[in-house]
Amino acid sequence: MKAIEIRNKYLNFFKNHGHVVIPSAPLIPENDPSVLFTTAGMQPLVPYLLGETHPAGKRLTDFQKCLRTNDIEEVGDNRHLTYFEMLGNWSLGDYFKEESIQMSFDFLTKELNIPIEKLSVTCFAGDKDCPRDEVTANCWKKAGIPVERIYYFGKDDNWWIAGEDGPCGPDTEMFYDTGKPKCSENCNPSCGCGKYVEIWNNVFMEYFKGKDGKYIKLKQHNVDTGLGLERMTMLLEGKETPFETELFAPVMEKLQELQKIDDIASRRIIAEHLRASIMIICDGGRPSNIDRGYILRRLIRRTIRHMNKLQISLDELSTLIDINVDNLKEMYPALEKNRETIKTVIIEEKDKFVKTLTKGEKEFAKEMEFAKQQNKKVIDGKVVFKLYDTYGFPPEVTEDLANENGMQIDKKEFERLFKEHQEKSRQGAEQKFKGGLASTGEMETKYHTATHLLNAALKQILGPHVHQRGSNITAERMRFDFSHDSKMTEEEKQKTEELVNKWIAEAIPVEHMEMKKEDAIKMGAEAMFIEKYGDIVSVYKIGDKSLELCGGPHVSNTSELGHFKIKKEESSSSGVRRIKAVLE
Ligand code: SER
Repeated sequence: MKAIEIRNKYLNFFKNHGHVVIPSAPLIPENDPSVLFTTAGMQPLVPYLLGETHPAGKRLTDFQKCLRTNDIEEVGDNRHLTYFEMLGNWSLGDYFKEESIQMSFDFLTKELNIPIEKLSVTCFAGDKDCPRDEVTANCWKKAGIPVERIYYFGKDDNWWIAGEDGPCGPDTEMFYDTGKPKCSENCNPSCGCGKYVEIWNNVFMEYFKGKDGKYIKLKQHNVDTGLGLERMTMLLEGKETPFETELFAPVMEKLQELQKIDDIASRRIIAEHLRASIMIICDGGRPSNIDRGYILRRLIRRTIRHMNKLQISLDELSTLIDINVDNLKEMYPALEKNRETIKTVIIEEKDKFVKTLTKGEKEFAKEMEFAKQQNKKVIDGKVVFKLYDTYGFPPEVTEDLANENGMQIDKKEFERLFKEHQEKSRQGAEQKFKGGLASTGEMETKYHTATHLLNAALKQILGPHVHQRGSNITAERMRFDFSHDSKMTEEEKQKTEELVNKWIAEAIPVEHMEMKKEDAIKMGAEAMFIEKYGDIVSVYKIGDKSLELCGGPHVSNTSELGHFKIKKEESSSSGVRRIKAVLE
């Protein structure tokens, strides 16, 4: 069955079960600078999992373009991908375990015709935070999975959360038995030997993990599921790896035809990274030296390195892009429209990289010679850093080159130097920041403190999904941008104002502390861009109301602020609201 048929079957099935099909969010999150790319179908839905009303209702389904970058280095083996498509269905405070499991079971066995004998499932074994999930196990039994294929595992396997904090819960995973022999007597779905392939994950999202590490029950119980399309296609097409499915086969075949040196890992890297790059560019991403842009740069540069390795002319990039676009445009029609842009972006990046490569490779060759003369097997971190800093040579490229020459690189030392370098530029930036604040007057100082109170009040009135997205202060007024999807009601605005004024009336002292960043995080301190701060951070605490990383300055007691008034509440951009307020 082709990938697009699986996708359509999925969306239709859930539509017939009362779900509304919503569009895939862009690969590049619209209002969330805290993550680089969309990594799961639930990510754009977080506010709704936390209780906000979704305009399309309580039962949703979609296909979501996702990119996970932790495993870039692993691509080339028989399973890792960076870009993938996740099919998902959600209950936002609607159905729960029984219905979710029955639907998954029916979809797998009746729509995809997977024999029950091929299926195993896992459930949460229970711990101090959440009981053993026997309800889920019983639902599986009732649906028709024999008890011997129902397994229990702990948080490592059967608990799902995106990152460190946020909505989460126990999950149940479905596995497909490839029919390979057991790797040992204890072979089971969590052992990772390849006999069992995970195909679907249903998360029963009814908890919220705070920054303090504590779990609280959410207002509503949700279901969040994710089924990896590439993997399912592979299994249903009876293939051993996703690279043999129709999603990659045309590019893989062309690479085989073009290559002068045979290396399957390189072919997979080229096919995978090119597809991921195309999808990122199609959603507006461009190469650069930071964050998202740097990931894209790495993907394109690794593609080129491996084309060089197979001795494929870089002029073929255009053909390879065409093959990809032709192959995928039925699934992603926007690719056709962006075909030329995609080519231009990739080819310009190639031209830049070729220049860098030529210079860097010469330098690398010198360093190699030097290392060999000294009988070294490891290239110094200092050299790796110099190649990075002076020649724009990504460390993974240096590593590839070193490996080709039977050498290693000192990654640890490189990372230490890289951190040191980052720390220095951070300190520079903080210095500038402090300088900027030196001229802060009395009113601006008051508005700084009012901003912290407003942030804390909004969290209480609207919910824990509220985070600062920006702010701007003058002597006349404050402006505060925060994550929230809908217009605030008159009542919400009034309550927020009242709460801030109540705290002002309580005359709460404002305390300033310096502490290790990790301790601040442990204490649950708010921070807009945590990674932008150095190891020792400045934190302002206002009673038990607010704890935020901030350079200050602040008043010493909330009673100094006067009367707080919201002047305006409006949309700033999608998913972000803006409040203008004054102190009277
Ligand atoms: N959020 C869960 C996952 O990514 C289910 O979609 O696996």
